[in-house]
Amino acid sequence: MSQFVRKAVFPVAGLGTRFLPATKANPKEMLPIVDKPLIQYAVEEALDAGIKDLIFVTGRNKRSIPDHFDKAYELENELEKKQKIKMLDMVRNIVPDDVTCIYIRQAEALGLGHAVLCAKAALGNEPFAVILADDLIDNPARGCLRQMVEAFEEYHRSIIAVETVPRDETYRYGIVSATDVTDRVKKMTGIVEKPKPEEAPTNLAVVGRYVFTPGILKQLQDTGRGAGGEIQLTDAIAGMLDKEDVYSLEFDGQRYDCGSKLGYLQANVEFGLKHPELSERFSAWLGSLKF
Ligand code: G1P
Repeated sequence: MSQFVRKAVFPVAGLGTRFLPATKANPKEMLPIVDKPLIQYAVEEALDAGIKDLIFVTGRNKRSIPDHFDKAYELENELEKKQKIKMLDMVRNIVPDDVTCIYIRQAEALGLGHAVLCAKAALGNEPFAVILADDLIDNPARGCLRQMVEAFEEYHRSIIAVETVPRDETYRYGIVSATDVTDRVKKMTGIVEKPKPEEAPTNLAVVGRYVFTPGILKQLQDTGRGAGGEIQLTDAIAGMLDKEDVYSLEFDGQRYDCGSKLGYLQANVEFGLKHPELSERFSAWLGSLKF
């Protein structure tokens, strides 16, 4: 097995029902935070971590995702004619030349585990990352995935990003039991998908970032349908714990749950406040609001 994490899977086939009607014809991953779609933040985080193959597992109504990372001839011609060089650079250089985009269709909505399994042919016998774009994680100095790849290079085992959540929210996450290794790294002893608060072993929640050894693919193949009739990634991780060590990492960064309307709005406000063109006027306007 290579010790380098060069591939990342982006499961983007979900229906995004929480954002209807905005997501009726558009993927939720294309919803913008200020002026950049969620999927681009996720891709930039992967590039920052040294990823070279971006593997998108897509579904119906997702054509705008490949379009977004493709060349946009008409737009580029127009911008060139008008000498809008900054904008031209912005649309041209989303993905560098040495990075490959691969698109795989997930024909049936059989869950996150199934989505990862759909990428198998493109993964080979290498470690790989999985990024869920609706968990937006902000750390301009050191991206979350970069922190995870560094942990992988140290432990050579799967690394799952976690954060502490309020007890009453455990039903929204995979919840991890683990023993301390360092301040931020733990060795996992168990994981359960979306337990009720009274049944949750801890309040350490999985967020949408994973680095896996190839062992997870074999495990996913042997994992039957779980909660909601779906192949759950969490069940495969639980199965893997008997065979190889898996570590959790409490990353450094601010996570926004952009799969929920509240988290999405919070991200827009915070990124708006930091946006070079907007910060001053936006913060003045926010300050003037009366509640
Ligand atoms: C998925 C995973 C869950 C994880 C969550 C993080 O759930 O199944 O274990 O905690 O992502 O965002 P979803 O939010 O897709 O229902």
